[in-house]
Amino acid sequence: MSGTNAEWRARSLAAVWHPCTQMKSHETLPLVPIARGSGAWLYDFDGRRLLDGVSSWWVNLFGHANPRINAALVAQLDSLEHALLAGCTHRPVVELSERLAALAPPGLGHAFYGSDGASATEIALKMSFHYWSNRGRADKRGFVSLAGGYHGETLGALAVTDVPLFRSTYAPLLMASAVVPCPDARRGTANRSAADIAIDAAAALEAHLERHHATTAAVIVEPLVQGAAGMVMYDAEYLRRARALCTRYGVHLIADEIMTGFGRTGTLFACEQAGVAPDFLCLSKGITGGYLPLSCVLSTDDVYAAFYADDAVRGFLHSHSYTGNALACRAALAVLDIFRDDDVIAANAARSQRFTALAAPLAAHGRVRHSRHQGMIWAFDVATDRPDFARRFFAAALERELLLRPIDRTVYFMPPYIVDDAEFALLVAGTRAILDAE
Ligand SMILES: Cc1ncc(COP(=O)(O)O)c(C=O)c1O
Repeated sequence: MSGTNAEWRARSLAAVWHPCTQMKSHETLPLVPIARGSGAWLYDFDGRRLLDGVSSWWVNLFGHANPRINAALVAQLDSLEHALLAGCTHRPVVELSERLAALAPPGLGHAFYGSDGASATEIALKMSFHYWSNRGRADKRGFVSLAGGYHGETLGALAVTDVPLFRSTYAPLLMASAVVPCPDARRGTANRSAADIAIDAAAALEAHLERHHATTAAVIVEPLVQGAAGMVMYDAEYLRRARALCTRYGVHLIADEIMTGFGRTGTLFACEQAGVAPDFLCLSKGITGGYLPLSCVLSTDDVYAAFYADDAVRGFLHSHSYTGNALACRAALAVLDIFRDDDVIAANAARSQRFTALAAPLAAHGRVRHSRHQGMIWAFDVATDRPDFARRFFAAALERELLLRPIDRTVYFMPPYIVDDAEFALLVAGTRAILDAE
């Protein structure tokens, strides 16, 4: 691989505007040039390696340069790279839609595709509003989301996102939407369980819907884990109650499983742990194993039927050029093959138990608060006064060959599912050393 880290860093800073970044911060924080990836490791141009402890922004499931996904993509390249999906169809998109419908919670048999996660959120919001409008209820146009929720950065998605850092600047551009309390399990005490917190938060949702259901189209939630809020975890009871309330008040439930889907919380979809089926299921990130941008919104027969008519404008006239891209769908099919052939959910259950045992010394660390775990996500908050904690931790982790990006004062591990015990132990040992040195 030609060039040095310094060369690629300089060229990138001159030509590339990096996402979610104050570019000036790179005057002091080194940009990390990646030359190649293999398994759970990324390699820079100077031959140093980094353990990808965050699955490259929560997308990678089976490692970088996975031979099985690579082979599927090479085979697909020989037949069809892409064809428009309006008026045409192709094998990968049909097979993927059939398989997702079979694997998802029951009743979600209609797959509409987008590219990134935010486009799935936009699709679900627009579809929900349009559903009610087609049913003669155009007044049902409001959305409800949870405190701390994150659903993407486009204007519609940002309107239902409650992370001030991303939202505040653009607030004047955003449609109004309601925020209800999050059932954050960290609020639990010896006398109040996570389920109690969930019941209280559901009561707040009920109070809101009781008053506003006539003007509300949908409630949108990240099931079980709110990622961008800092891996906030909550009890499945909340989802059960939210589902029942949405049904009772005639409001859609949108499950944003863009981060939680594809095994991340221990089941293929987080909704399974509550035994609920949403009206819309948003998927992206892990869907292609971290290879290609693809998102999908699964919806019900009832939703689909509301759009099925002679009148063109009753149809869902939404599109992206790369909707249902054949290569991305083929990567997704390869990912589903791996889940099936390797019995990944069962293997992860055992892996997750071993990793939790390996992380035990961290949970007991004096600076660690609210150590928590769900499936293949481990997180804890750090008792620190340093406002620049996340940035310092990131830089210190790089020194120890670890790619970890705390969210504010929350450190989390979200590794690809192929990390072994020794690699996970590196994440734990490195993190301990950094906390000790802080
Ligand atoms: C729950 C959730 N929804 C939506 C998104 C937005 O996805 P994307 O960044 O692909 O637009 C994210 C991204 O982190 C997410 O975690």
